[in-house]
Amino acid sequence: MIGLIDRLSRPLMRALDPEDAHTLAIKALRFMPLPRPAPEPPELGVRAFGLNFPNPIGLAAGFDKNAQASDALLRLGFGFVEIGTVTPRAQAGNPRPRLFRLEADEGVINRLGFNNGGEAVVLARLAARANEGGIVGVNIGANRDSPDRTEDYVRLIETFAPVASYFTVNVSSPNTPGLRDLQQAKALDDLLARVIDARERVHPRAGPTPVLLKIAPDLTLSNLDDVVGIARKHRVDGMIVGNTTITRPGSLRERGKAGEAGGLSGRPLFKLSTRMLAETYVRTESAFPLIGVGGIDSGATAIAKLKAGATVLQLYSGLVYRGIGLVAQIKADLLTAIKRGHRDSLASMVGSDAADMTAESWPS
Ligand SMILES: Cc1cc2nc3c(=O)[nH]c(=O)nc-3n(C[C@H](O)[C@H](O)[C@H](O)COP(=O)(O)O)c2cc1C
Repeated sequence: MIGLIDRLSRPLMRALDPEDAHTLAIKALRFMPLPRPAPEPPELGVRAFGLNFPNPIGLAAGFDKNAQASDALLRLGFGFVEIGTVTPRAQAGNPRPRLFRLEADEGVINRLGFNNGGEAVVLARLAARANEGGIVGVNIGANRDSPDRTEDYVRLIETFAPVASYFTVNVSSPNTPGLRDLQQAKALDDLLARVIDARERVHPRAGPTPVLLKIAPDLTLSNLDDVVGIARKHRVDGMIVGNTTITRPGSLRERGKAGEAGGLSGRPLFKLSTRMLAETYVRTESAFPLIGVGGIDSGATAIAKLKAGATVLQLYSGLVYRGIGLVAQIKADLLTAIKRGHRDSLASMVGSDAADMTAESWPS
């Protein structure tokens, strides 16, 4: 079934403008009758942030911004789906074109700018699917023109806590001017204090919703020292490493498109994001687990992320080039790695290469 979807849809999708292709994919997923998948092999199960993931491969934020297709995506084999980024009020985002494929590099550049339907629309959709089960995280962000960005996050925690499996506090999108300044020590300290306080306030009616912090791969290591220290101080449940990069590796072949403003993802992000993951892992000293994301497009890249320190994984751009069959392929490769290593889970791989990776020269 999945192979058939891939074979039929990929040539068509690649022929379309990238944003039109995305809109079409979401529509198709909404109306596609998909059977519930067979239960996953228990070896692929992961427990993290107080949640039981049936498998460790999640869909990263930005694909299903408005929670229109989460159940279809879970049925296609993802272990969890992160919707959003959602902002309190609906916003249109930046003018088109704002999404670019770097085909020769298997990369994507986007400067969408948090286009989304706003909290009311997304809340209604999540409430309507609440009995379906499955892990659906809610990635939250501030409106571009918000007079008090921290207040936007607080309000979104209060709104979504009853329907969110977890929250991702996104302070790392490069496409909302000034948003990434929330990663600076003082601003982050204040933001996390208020976010965790809001989470505690809603706990009695919503249960213990984990809060994860999603960071940019472009932080300096001294920024990262501060960020991890502050995340530990406020006892966040985990971190996601990381978002798209505003840097452009020298190896990019699509030089013309590389000049487009926005965040780069996909294969050209793999080295930088994996290094930042390892750097984050060694700083957390096991205080909380990490989600590794950036350039995963095979079993080998997924395993490298685990060894760099990820307990759970996410991907997005790899789907553009490999299709939805990528998820099943990675799961099969992870199972093979578990069996070959005579392990009963992925846990022993997590972080096994992190210290060595941090000693290598910086990826360019
Ligand atoms: C088109 C597009 C839109 C994205 N939108 C968001 C978003 O709204 N919020 C967010 O936290 N990350 C967003 N991301 C970043 C992804 O969640 C992910 O962190 C990044 O793409 C790296 O993973 P990948 O290389 O597997 O794509 C977006 C990425 C892409 C390609």
